[in-house]
Amino acid sequence: MLHPGQTAINAATRLCAIFGSPVRHSASPAMHNAAFAELGLNWRYVACEVRPENLREALAGARAMGLAGLNLTVPHKLLAVPLMDELHETAKFWGSVNTIRFEGRKPGGPWLPLAEFDREPPAETRSHGFNTDAEGLSISLSEDLGVELPGAKVLLLGAGGAGRTAALKLAESQVAELFLVNRTASKTEEIAAEIRQRWPRVKVVVGYPRGRVNLVVNATSLGLKPEDPSPLDEKAFPLTQAEAVYDMVYKPAETKLLAAAKAADCRTASGLGMLVWQGAVAFMIWTGKQPPVAIMRNAAEHSVYAR
Ligand code: ATR
Repeated sequence: MLHPGQTAINAATRLCAIFGSPVRHSASPAMHNAAFAELGLNWRYVACEVRPENLREALAGARAMGLAGLNLTVPHKLLAVPLMDELHETAKFWGSVNTIRFEGRKPGGPWLPLAEFDREPPAETRSHGFNTDAEGLSISLSEDLGVELPGAKVLLLGAGGAGRTAALKLAESQVAELFLVNRTASKTEEIAAEIRQRWPRVKVVVGYPRGRVNLVVNATSLGLKPEDPSPLDEKAFPLTQAEAVYDMVYKPAETKLLAAAKAADCRTASGLGMLVWQGAVAFMIWTGKQPPVAIMRNAAEHSVYAR
């Protein structure tokens, strides 16, 4: 999509990119290019199909070419951790990297975003890895669903990469009780053990809750394909027992889980907000500017649903 206010590409254009495999359906280029145009920044964002075996070289190339920043998606988020020159506390905390800022410094000077070296390239450069997924989820739960996490009872479905990050973020946000359900039970046991050690005040239960919960979160990939069953076993936990349901799947906009939740009078939200907010936080990390979130959301919606 062409944006009003977009500057022409020239020799001073700053570049950001997303590396992934597959990456063709990413909404991030649409979202970030709309945001750059809105702020009149001479920046562009592209998607690069990078295979895991080429990640190290691709990261070194991006740094050498002076890119301002990167996003990483499947399957790079964990692989990138040992490849970073510096890890922000968010990347250490969640154990994965979805946002990289390239930084530079003059001899003896402080590390600054590479984007600040307009006239003279810095003597030294480095990659700085962040994670904005967990923050994206918690802002979206609050903004899109009005959920107050401290003291809440939450049922979390899924214990893959996204499920683990969600579980740790919910525990860090001081939920009172966390119920973990996953097809492969050993993964929920591992996450439960980690939470009991790191946040002993959170009551973690492996399995479905008996009574009411404030929130159900789907962090499995079930729902992406039309033939997928719902990730929730409604015999084990009827949705009438939930106040709000969040589905990290955002395409289709209404999954079977969300349709059933609406029918049960729950408040509902798809994962589009999480996508937008993880991008908005990344935008701030690269540019140092307030992200135009409404513009980003519009662009993401258009990119995801209009094709
Ligand atoms: P992501 O990074 O998106 O979390 P992932 O790590 O591959 O991707 O995790 C996918 C999640 O969806 C897991 O919780 C997975 O369950 P398993 O741990 O048992 O594999 C869940 N999932 C995927 N397909 C599923 C299916 N057909 N039935 C139930 N759960 C499924």
